[in-house]
Amino acid sequence: MNFSTKQYFKKAEEGNYAIGQFNCSSADQVKAVILVAQKLNAPVIVGTSEGESKFMGLRQAVKLVESYQEETGLPIILNADHTYKDAKDIQNLDKIKALLDAGYNSIHFDGSVLPYQENVKWTSEVVKMCKEKNPDISVEGELGFLPGASKVSKEKLEFKEEYFTDPEKALEFVKVTGVDRLAVSVGNSHGISADEPKLDFDRIAKINEKVRDYAVLVLHGGSGIPDEDIKKAILLGIRKINVNTELRAAFTIALKDYFIKNPEETTPYKYLQASIDAMQKVVENKIIVFGSGGKAGSSF
Ligand code: 13P
Repeated sequence: MNFSTKQYFKKAEEGNYAIGQFNCSSADQVKAVILVAQKLNAPVIVGTSEGESKFMGLRQAVKLVESYQEETGLPIILNADHTYKDAKDIQNLDKIKALLDAGYNSIHFDGSVLPYQENVKWTSEVVKMCKEKNPDISVEGELGFLPGASKVSKEKLEFKEEYFTDPEKALEFVKVTGVDRLAVSVGNSHGISADEPKLDFDRIAKINEKVRDYAVLVLHGGSGIPDEDIKKAILLGIRKINVNTELRAAFTIALKDYFIKNPEETTPYKYLQASIDAMQKVVENKIIVFGSGGKAGSSF
């Protein structure tokens, strides 16, 4: 992909806004994201979790995003979200190699379940591998633990003090590993659960103060957080926000509604349009709240 990924995070830092990562499971969802990015002239990140990229195919995801990038001229970053989240089979970093070979221009290595020193060790390895492939590949590390999963649930989540990212440790982590981005635990969670997330703004500010010369901050769990809280978090230094559950829910609810009204329909391009439209509304609102509209630039 012929633009600098790092340049876009730098611009977000300079311009005090956040770039949205919108997770996608299918080409239909990628289409929804790109249509909005085009409408608002926004840089966007298409995110694929391990499950999502397995479903789409790594090379297929890359080629799809590249084709949109060529056609629209937009900076569209493709990020492998939560690679090695469960820390299984980490030993040879095969998954990172496969992502790089396929052409991903952004990698999130999630060593957050590992003991701190192990997280540092493997994250540093991943940074080295990515930079050897291409110094412009943007690498995200994670420090601190996020409860929940990207689904709608009626359960209450438990937040333990030890889950939260410590500002001093964050500084050490970014300095030693060399990551470009740091995903933090600051009261955020994956998915939409019974309680509204309560962000620890003081902690965001403190972490940003420490790490800003080395890495930009990432807020996972962008679903269900009130817009005003998101805006405040951006003012305090969040530069990338991941959204998945709200997109999944909008897509699926629209599909269910469509079939309630049109139970006999069998043509995918007809019934999927409602889902694409519904997902676009969510993406559009997020991009407006994140302040990234109009920031794609005319050339890169
Ligand atoms: P949500 O599912 O809560 O939006 O979180 C998505 C995410 O953080 C993906 O990495």
